[in-house]
Amino acid sequence: MKVIAIAAVSDDGFIAGPDGGIPWRLPRDTAHFRQFTEDQCLLLGRKTYSEMIGWFRPGHRAIVVTRAGSLPADPSITPELATSVQSAIEKAERSGIERLIVCGGAQIYRASLELVDELVITHVHTQIGAGLAFPSISESDWYPAETEPWPMDADNSIAMTLTHYRRVNRKFA
Ligand SMILES: NC(=O)c1ccc[n+]([C@@H]2O[C@H](COP(=O)([O-])OP(=O)(O)OC[C@H]3O[C@@H](n4cnc5c(N)ncnc54)[C@H](OP(=O)(O)O)[C@@H]3O)[C@@H](O)[C@H]2O)c1
Repeated sequence: MKVIAIAAVSDDGFIAGPDGGIPWRLPRDTAHFRQFTEDQCLLLGRKTYSEMIGWFRPGHRAIVVTRAGSLPADPSITPELATSVQSAIEKAERSGIERLIVCGGAQIYRASLELVDELVITHVHTQIGAGLAFPSISESDWYPAETEPWPMDADNSIAMTLTHYRRVNRKFA
């Protein structure tokens, strides 16, 4: 099973404002996120899951990391609970799926980075100054295998670069 993290990160390293919530509205990235995660098994922290209730489609499967015994319901899916990122990954692995998509938030990216095979990062070319950070993408661990510039346009008020990172130690594997 391949574990892939997907995130949109500002140039100063943040995924959300200090009180949570995504600090930009960028339809191109929203469409990319929707397409990349379509019909996939998603790993989410409880806070991100709660923000996404109503967004899920019946083809999604969601494994939610929480210390709570139950979660608020979503109209399209029944989330599965896990008590840690590690146990969420093991649960996915046992079910025989090919890809698990780590969708955040900050706590979950931090806890999973060591366990992730690939990163799909939308670099949002803005500085937000403070907030919830994505862990550092170290050049000694990751290399940008593919990049695609997304210039600003009528619908997207900030330029972005989509970068697909792979692990350095797997570069020549
Ligand atoms: N820009 C992006 O790409 C992006 C992507 C995703 C999310 N976000 C943003 O990120 C923010 C949320 O991030 P966040 O870090 O505050 O929350 P989060 O990672 O989504 O969820 C945190 C929750 O996960 C559970 N959890 C975390 N570590 C755990 C552990 N070791 N064992 C058991 N449960 C654990 C806890 O749930 P319980 O409290 O229920 O125990 C914790 O409160 C939102 O504002 C969202 O919009 C941005």
